Amino acid sequence: MNSMRRSIGRVIRAVGIRRRHSHGHAFIDEAETLALSDGWKDPRLPNRQRRVYDRALDNMRSGNSPRSFQVAAASTRLSGISEPSILEIGSGSGYYSEVFSHMVSAQVSYVGLDYSLAMVSLAKEKYGPSSRFCVGDATRLPFRSGSFDVAFSGGVLLHVRDFRRAIAETRRVARYWAVFHVIPCVVSSNTSFVKKTAYGVEVIEVIFNQGELCSAFEECGLRVRERYVLEAYPVGLIQENAYLLTFACEVVPLAPSATVYRPAKGP
Ligand SMILES: C[S@@+](CC[C@H](N)C(=O)[O-])C[C@H]1O[C@@H](n2cnc3c(N)ncnc32)[C@H](O)[C@@H]1O
Repeated sequence: MNSMRRSIGRVIRAVGIRRRHSHGHAFIDEAETLALSDGWKDPRLPNRQRRVYDRALDNMRSGNSPRSFQVAAASTRLSGISEPSILEIGSGSGYYSEVFSHMVSAQVSYVGLDYSLAMVSLAKEKYGPSSRFCVGDATRLPFRSGSFDVAFSGGVLLHVRDFRRAIAETRRVARYWAVFHVIPCVVSSNTSFVKKTAYGVEVIEVIFNQGELCSAFEECGLRVRERYVLEAYPVGLIQENAYLLTFACEVVPLAPSATVYRPAKGP
């Protein structure tokens, strides 16, 4: 009986956390995508999200890592670099720094970037003055080209209105490898912009058409080498099943015609 309860608990931990803290999808128009783009800067979010991920970190330390942590580590290890320098874009309060040092290598050189001052402040509070976290935007990364072995876009691309620019920027700062983690994807429907409630705050979310997303990677000089399915992601509005995916991409030379980034006209 106890072992059955433990197994049920494991399944709930694996798939349930995201659903309990993320719900209420609704389509939005362009004006609303603009209005909600700064949603994650809300100062109430860092502690609310951190409480959830502190439990996930405890599980990791006791040998029961959530699938999202396992996939983050596997997709990074696939680069073949044993002690990579990693930039996490959308690093929140920095818990993936622990995931990488626990599951990839203690020698990983990690930098976290987030557009929310409140997230970065909490990360610095948690990991101390020598930790490397900075405030910055995924669409204008404050680093030279090729600064990091691995650019790890950590559950952020789905919250960026100009996601094509964010992909181009991720590719620009990556020397060898880029990972796009936790991306909601569908196969038949078009890419759509929706809003949802995350930890009690309204934020923008992009549900990607997988083919369009992979073309955007390719146009930016990124070749998808592995695709991981994290979990089913029910979005009531869309007539097909969505899944959360992670894409591990190799940095490849850009075609000369693709070097100039042209911003999308809107959703
Ligand atoms: C869903 S959380 C992901 C946190 C963590 N990386 C993970 O995978 O669990 C998204 C994070 O991206 C940040 N974010 C949203 N839009 C951003 C942008 N344009 N530039 C940088 N960070 C952004 C938010 O502040 C938030 O910390």
